[in-house]
Parts: sequence; C-alpha cells; structure tokens
Amino acid sequence: MTEPQSDYRRPPGPDEPVSLGIDAVTLDTLLSLQREYGDMVSMRTANGRLAYFVNDAVEVRRILARRHSKYHKGPGFERVKMLLGNGLIVSDGDVWRRSRTMIQPAFSRQNVHRLTTVMVECTDRRAAKWAEAAADSETLNITEETCDFALELILISIFGDDYENRILTAGDNPFAFLSRDSTRDLSVVMKVRRLRELLLSIIEDRRAATGSQHFDFLSMYLEATDKQGKRFSDKELLDELMTLIVAGFETSANTLNWVWHLVAKHPDVEAKLIEEAQRVLPNVSAVSAENLAAMEYTQQTLEEALRLYPPVWLFTRRSHAADELEDFDVPPGTDIYLAPYVLHRTDHYWPEPEVFDPDRFVLADKPKKDRPYFPFSLGPRRCLGEYFSFLEMKVHLGLLLPRFRMQLVDDAEPELELAINLRSAEDIHVRPAIR
Ligand code: HEM
Repeated sequence: MTEPQSDYRRPPGPDEPVSLGIDAVTLDTLLSLQREYGDMVSMRTANGRLAYFVNDAVEVRRILARRHSKYHKGPGFERVKMLLGNGLIVSDGDVWRRSRTMIQPAFSRQNVHRLTTVMVECTDRRAAKWAEAAADSETLNITEETCDFALELILISIFGDDYENRILTAGDNPFAFLSRDSTRDLSVVMKVRRLRELLLSIIEDRRAATGSQHFDFLSMYLEATDKQGKRFSDKELLDELMTLIVAGFETSANTLNWVWHLVAKHPDVEAKLIEEAQRVLPNVSAVSAENLAAMEYTQQTLEEALRLYPPVWLFTRRSHAADELEDFDVPPGTDIYLAPYVLHRTDHYWPEPEVFDPDRFVLADKPKKDRPYFPFSLGPRRCLGEYFSFLEMKVHLGLLLPRFRMQLVDDAEPELELAINLRSAEDIHVRPAIR
C-alpha cells in the first residue's frame, strides 16, 4: 500500500481512524462526517488507508467523468467478484475497455426497442397473477413481484427461448435465489457454481448450432468481437452473463418496489400517472418506443424515486495516479467514497430533499450540469442498462397502474436495508383491487 506523504494538502477530517463498509453504519458515519466537515472529507480507514468522502457535485463529476482514467474501482467490489468474476462491473483498465467496446452495441436503442415485446409479456404475466389475487381478496408481496418481474425479463432478454426450454426445465428457476437471498455465503457459492455449469452448457449448444436465429443478449455477446477480431472466451462470457443478470434485475426491481410504495402514498401523483398511461398507452398494442418516450410524467416520477432511493446508494473508486480535487491532493492509492444517497438528499442542492416531488424533474428544468444526480453513475462507466431499465419500468407501470389500485397493508415508512443495493428492509405488502 502506498503511504502518502504528510505534506499533501488534504481536506479536513477526523484524526482517529474511521471504519467504512457498505452498510447502514457507514451511512450514519458519512452523514455525520458531512455535518462536521462539509462536502470534502479526508480520513484514515481502519486498515490505515487514506480515504476521501466526496460529496461535492463538481468534484464527483470530475472523478467519474473527466478524470476517470486516474481511478479504478475501489473497496467493496471484491465482495461482488464472487458472483461476477471479472465482468464489466468489476473489471478495470484494458480488460474493462475491451469488454465495454464489445458489449456496448448490444445496448443500442434499436436493440432495446426490440425487447419491448418481452417487457409487455412479463408485465402481462404479473397482471394475470394480480387479477387473481384481487378476485380472491388476497394480498401481494410487491417486493417479490417486482423482483420476479425484473428477473424474468432480464433472463428472457438474455436467453430468449432457452429460458423456458433450458432454464425453467432445470427445476425451479435456478436464478430465483438471486432475488431472495441477500447473503453471499457458501451455499450461494455452490448455487452460483451450478448456475455457471448450466450457462456453460447453453453457451456450448448455442456455439454448436450454426445458423440458428436468435435475438437476445446471448446471441449478441456470442457474435461480439474485439479490435483483433477475437470473441469472448467461455470464462469471459460467463462473467459477462452473470454481470448482466445481477446488474440488470435487482436495481430495476428495487426501484419499482419503491415506486409502488410512493405511489400508494401519493394519490395526486398516482392520478397523473394513470391519466398519462391511459392517454399514451390505451392498450398493449400502443407500446412503442415513441409512446414510451412520450410518458414524461412517468419518467419524472422514476427519476424522483431514483433520487430518493438510488439502488446503488454508495460506490467507491481508488486512485492509481496522482490527482487534484479543489485545492486538495489525491495521492495514488486513495480510496474515494461517493454516495448518491447522501448527495441526492443534500439540501443545498435539493431543497426539502425528503419530499417526494416528481415535478423537480420537469423537462424544461432538467438537472443542470452541476446538479448532483447520478443514480446511474456518470462518465464512461455509466450504467449500460439505463435506457433498458427506463423502458421496462414504463411498460410495467404504464400497463399495470391503470388496472390495479394498490393499498398498502402497512402504512409505516419502510426501513432501509443498505447493502450493495438499497432495498426496503422488510418486504412491502399491498392489497390489489381492480379499478
Ligand atoms: C434502475 C436501474 C439501474 C440502476 C440505478 C443502475 C445503476 C448502475 C450504476 C450506478 C452503475 C455503475 C457502478 C459503478 O461504476 O461503480 C451501473 C453499471 C452497470 N449497469 Fe446498471 N443500473 C440499473 C439497471 C441496469 C440494467 C437493467 C442493466 C442491464 C440490462 C444494467 C447493466 C449495467 C452494466 C453492464 C454496468 C457496468 C458498466 C461498466 O462498468 O462499464 N444496469 N449501473
């Protein structure tokens, strides 16, 4: 570890070492550091590293965008490596650049538009189940429902027909534990190993089946080549598929979970969403890229939900080259903590930050360049699935909200679970009724 010299210009901060992880205690620590020292704080971590907590809008953008080449992924990412190997989210440098260049075309708007039929199909399956629950006066676990929706959607988007023919036939959905089990213990390691075996056999069959006509992420990943014309190896492909599954469902599922909760608490917002959905998506055949783009109020509502509950609430970087932020030095080896959750609720950027108000995101008033809003990160490592996730969430809400009124079983504010993803600590239950 690089031990920085003492004459570096550092932001203010505590003298005693600070323990930082990705958990609820860390959020309390960051909030109290911000209160005491402001938007740039330096400290020693419990293991002796120099760390900066950066909560300044301009400097966050500088780190993630303009100066991104001086930073790699930071502490905490080793925990996700177990699931994701060296896939896009955890890789750095040339490995990351090669994969990103190979994968990015799969996420073109044109390709994502072709997946809207799958989004409708997965939404319809929820509607059928919810209609039954409403008829039988049963409650629904909306946290599980949104997880199942987003997981099924990403799996069909990746594997196409192989989802039904190969994955579901392998027993109960072998990916289901990803949405149920937040622990990352040994039993999860075993399940992940079995999953990779299953995925490998699907990959091998796809490679062998020449001339097959698929349109899904797997076929696009199999065809992708780097500058030398080389394709992904099996190991690289497995890492990228696991990355896509994990990155692609929990974040959207959590956002939808919060949206159902927020909407149930804000009838005025609910009424506007329904009016828009009925006008723009009067029936399933109206689902098109153009119409989804026209759902401006739904877009604002989603952006506001992501401001209050950014699924990736905290992330980290580590400098590998010297940098400067404001008037401070960043020696190589400095850990950087960036917390969308804190920045999105800092009142000098967001007046009355605790209030849920989709009108903050009115188009004419779109976030200014220096306004700190980064639920999808910023710069070259910005989320690849942002457009996909907005479309899936708009299809889901646009088709389901006008059909179902959801009453919360418990009116209390859900506690937060602050792990790698921000979730509601307890599942949210609702009583559905047909409108
Ligand atoms: C509300 C939904 C989502 C949110 C809030 C979100 C957020 C993020 C964030 C913050 C990062 C960057 C993390 C970092 O740099 O440390 C990221 C990366 C990524 N996301 Fe998303 N994501 C969402 C949905 C999706 C979906 C649906 C997909 C795939 C279909 C996806 C695929 C990815 C990938 C592949 C990366 C890695 C990009 C790279 O490092 O080059 N995400 N996401």
